[in-house]
Amino acid sequence: MILSIESSCDDSSIAITEISSGKLLFHRKISQEATHSTYGGVVPEIASRLHAEELPKILYEAKKFLNDSFSPLKAIAVTTEPGLNITLIEGLMMAKALAFSLKLPIISVNHLKGHIYSLFINQIQSIFPLSVLLVSGGHTLIIEAKSPTQMSIIAKSMDDSFGESFDKVAKMLLLGYPGGPIVEKMAKLHAQDSKPQSTFNFPLPLKHSKDLAFSFSGLKNAVRLKVLEAQEQGINIQSDDFRGKICYEFQKTACDHLLTQLKKYFKTKKENGDFIKHFSIVGGASANIFLRDKIHDLCDTFGAKLLLAPLEFCSDNAAMIGRAALDKYNRKEFADIVTLQSSPKSTQGEFI
Ligand code: KG4
Ligand code: ZN
Repeated sequence: MILSIESSCDDSSIAITEISSGKLLFHRKISQEATHSTYGGVVPEIASRLHAEELPKILYEAKKFLNDSFSPLKAIAVTTEPGLNITLIEGLMMAKALAFSLKLPIISVNHLKGHIYSLFINQIQSIFPLSVLLVSGGHTLIIEAKSPTQMSIIAKSMDDSFGESFDKVAKMLLLGYPGGPIVEKMAKLHAQDSKPQSTFNFPLPLKHSKDLAFSFSGLKNAVRLKVLEAQEQGINIQSDDFRGKICYEFQKTACDHLLTQLKKYFKTKKENGDFIKHFSIVGGASANIFLRDKIHDLCDTFGAKLLLAPLEFCSDNAAMIGRAALDKYNRKEFADIVTLQSSPKSTQGEFI
């Protein structure tokens, strides 16, 4: 069994994965969302302190699950990059202490690769080659994963990430954190209650650009201006009607932007005779059903099979870290316990 630890942002999580089957035997996650919600975003210092409080509680539960003995463990895995350095360190120090005392190898896992492995939790096979749209709070990327060790970034955001833009729009509308699920819910209610019309006409990002890239800061600013304008006109920005309209149109434009860029990607691949057989969306924002449906249609159009992780494993969790570590364990890719460091950015070489 492999015990895995995740603490790259605001989720404290530990999992135990069976090596022979890939089965997830134990998984526990304590989210800090409620605490950070009052600040409208993650406060790193608080997140770090909470990991120091929560991770030992979960480790205690994991030990109980193992009938009070860590002896079935064959390796300790931990997220070391990318993420918030002061939160990554909490998980890393726990992993090092465990690996040292239990005399076990340590496996360092890249969080983004972890998200890709969220597709393979509870199974021993993994599917490659695979094209991936990774949409999280920190990243918006198209990744081509030829194999577990050959992954390259094909496109990225020039500014804010997709998930982050949802968080910022939610903050403008005083809807709390994380913004993604709240904005999606407000947009859905609006679409159900009324026949949605384009009232604000938010601009489609990078509309005239030929480059394959993403950008969300212009859209975010367009929303900010509409909110300010409404306030000046005495409109209640906290009314369900106003919030619903903004959330619906923002989500639609943000998703249309992703879709426009993805269509470009699919088309170029097709023109080069390189058909995409398997496509996937991973990361916290891949839980967005509106986006899932749109990408489903796109995959149908281009004859690609869409792989999705169960909703519970889209956001940060240690189960995906354990599953990514399993492949590394089988390749005997262990890190040096003494020199292993955390890093806020992906180290060069993780994505070639
Ligand atoms: O992967 P994740 O849990 O953490 C990072 O690695 O960043 O992603 C969290 C991000 C947050 O920005 C959150 O607002 C966004 O994912 N998110 C969503 C949805 N659920 C979570 N964004 C849009 N729609 C959602 N349903
Ligand atoms: Zn993540």
